[in-house]
Amino acid sequence: MTTTSAGAPFGSIKDVDELIRAIAAQHCTPGWVPRQNPLMWPSAKSTFQPAHWRFSDIRPALVAAGRVIGTDLAERRNFVLRNPIARNDFATTNTLVGAYQSILPGERARSHRHSSHALRIILEARGSYSIVNGRRHPMETGDIVLTPGGCWHGHGHEGVEQAYWFDCLDLPLVHLLEPMTAQDHPEHWEADVTDAPDSPMRIPQATVIQRLTDAAEGDDFFGRTVDFSSPEMRTITIKAHQWKSGWRNRPYRQHANQIFVVLGGAGTTTVDDARFDWNFGDVFVAPLASRVTHHVQDDAMLVALSDEGLMKYCGFHQLEAA
Ligand SMILES: [Fe+2]
Repeated sequence: MTTTSAGAPFGSIKDVDELIRAIAAQHCTPGWVPRQNPLMWPSAKSTFQPAHWRFSDIRPALVAAGRVIGTDLAERRNFVLRNPIARNDFATTNTLVGAYQSILPGERARSHRHSSHALRIILEARGSYSIVNGRRHPMETGDIVLTPGGCWHGHGHEGVEQAYWFDCLDLPLVHLLEPMTAQDHPEHWEADVTDAPDSPMRIPQATVIQRLTDAAEGDDFFGRTVDFSSPEMRTITIKAHQWKSGWRNRPYRQHANQIFVVLGGAGTTTVDDARFDWNFGDVFVAPLASRVTHHVQDDAMLVALSDEGLMKYCGFHQLEAA
């Protein structure tokens, strides 16, 4: 005989309220009851906010961090770009986290690995490097360096000036899906490192510029664009944009969360009601379904990091004029 958790037979239940109380004891909820937070709604929206971080504001903080935080406390000296929604403590968008990171001349960051995919966009660096699975990759200004999930990676700096870059990881997505693994390298630094001037783990600045120069004009929404996404890290779409002074896009909304990193030039982007005047090194966020309008004031190059490929894989991606 089917019973409630208290042993009473469901057959003795007389009304809906009694049934709901009884089924709750079985860790079930009736699907027809109105919820305070509905499970479905008519059109896509993000709980994350448009947001903007100025490199000119954060860079001095990284200089200060280099002064007051030794590598004994933080070998990875970084500031995480926390989206200003109230319930958030680290994510930049719903699926991605970004951070500004810095390293001083002579420093090294020990190798570790994690299931989360990661990449670096180098803002200012000469003489720094990243070791990815035993291969040493230069990290110079304008480079993009990839560390797909599971790859050992550590950094070092043999230059004379403090180096700065932007990190992006799919950590919020990994937290949602729960396949997190992370280990420190058992020997701290990888041994038998070989140079890798040409590697699928590094997109040199010269390659980014050349491929953009060779690219077609692009569509009205996104302009001149080259897709540098890696099949080894499908959760982060990497697109570089080159936009001429005076260019305006056709405003759009899409089902994808974007983080823009400004590698050169200047412009204004309006994300819903928020207006961001951006310059070199700035980072700004256009959450899923937000209305995005760009107006370029000086010839610009940006990298957009997003979950567009993930949305397309899931069949969720939509793009429309707005
Ligand atoms: Fe890492």
